[in-house]
Amino acid sequence: MTDRTPVIAGNWKMNTDVESGTKLAEEILALSASASGVEKIVCPPFISLTSISQVLAGSSVRVGAQNVSANGNGAFTGEVSTSMLNGLVSHAIVGHSERRAMNGETSADVASKAIAAVDAGLVAILCVGEDLGVRKTGEAAAFVSAQLEESLAGFSQWDSLIIAYEPVWAIGTGEAATSDQAQEMTAVCRDVVRKLAPDAADSVRVLYGGSVNSGNISELLTQPDIDGALVGGASLKADEFSKLIAAASSN
Ligand code: 13P
Repeated sequence: MTDRTPVIAGNWKMNTDVESGTKLAEEILALSASASGVEKIVCPPFISLTSISQVLAGSSVRVGAQNVSANGNGAFTGEVSTSMLNGLVSHAIVGHSERRAMNGETSADVASKAIAAVDAGLVAILCVGEDLGVRKTGEAAAFVSAQLEESLAGFSQWDSLIIAYEPVWAIGTGEAATSDQAQEMTAVCRDVVRKLAPDAADSVRVLYGGSVNSGNISELLTQPDIDGALVGGASLKADEFSKLIAAASSN
C-alpha cells in the first residue's frame, strides 16, 4: 500500500472554444467538486485558460497547460512562456507524444520544458510512451526507460513531477493497454526515478494514459504503480470525466 494521492487529469487537446470549454469546466465542477482523496486537473487549450481559471478559482479542480515554452519572454512567435501562465495554471503537460511526433520535440526539449515549468512553480506532467513499432519489437520497457531518463536530464524538483505513461498505440484508438501492461510500464517509470532520485521513487505519481474510460479505470487503479490517469477523449464529457474522478476518489 502507498499513500500516494491519485490524480485524474483531462487533456482536452485541440478541442473546445472559450464558450464550450468554460461550460465544460462548469459542468465538471458541479459534478466533481466534492470528490475527495483525488487530485482533479483539467488542461484546456491556452485560449480558454483565463476564463476557466476564473471558473475554477478556489475550487478543488486545478488547471493545467497542455504545453509550455522552455524560453523566457521574447521573440518566439506563437509560444507561451511560464510567466504568461502565472496565476492561470498550477500544472503543465510536457512531452506529450503528439508534440513529440508532430512538433519534433526531443527528449532534450522536454527536459528543458519540465525544468522551466517547475522553476516557475508549476507541477510538470511529463509524458512518455512507445509507439506500436517499438512495442512489437519487445523493447517497450527499454525504450520508455531511456526516453524518461533523457526527459529528466538535469531535473531535480521531484515534488513537482507527475509522470504519465501513454503508449502511442493506445491513444485515441479505443484500445487501452491492459492493466498488466500498464502496471509493467508504470513500474518501469518508477524505477527510472528510483535510479535518479531514490528518495522520490515511492512518492512520485505515475499515471496511465490511452483510451481510459469509465469501463476500464477501476481495474487500472487496482495496480500498485498506477496512480491515476491522463485522459483525452473521455475528459471532454463532464459526466464521463466525473465518473473517472469518482472511481479514483476515496469518498
Ligand atoms: P485518449 O484518452 O483520447 O486516448 O488520449 C489520451 C491522451 O493522449 C491524454 O494525454
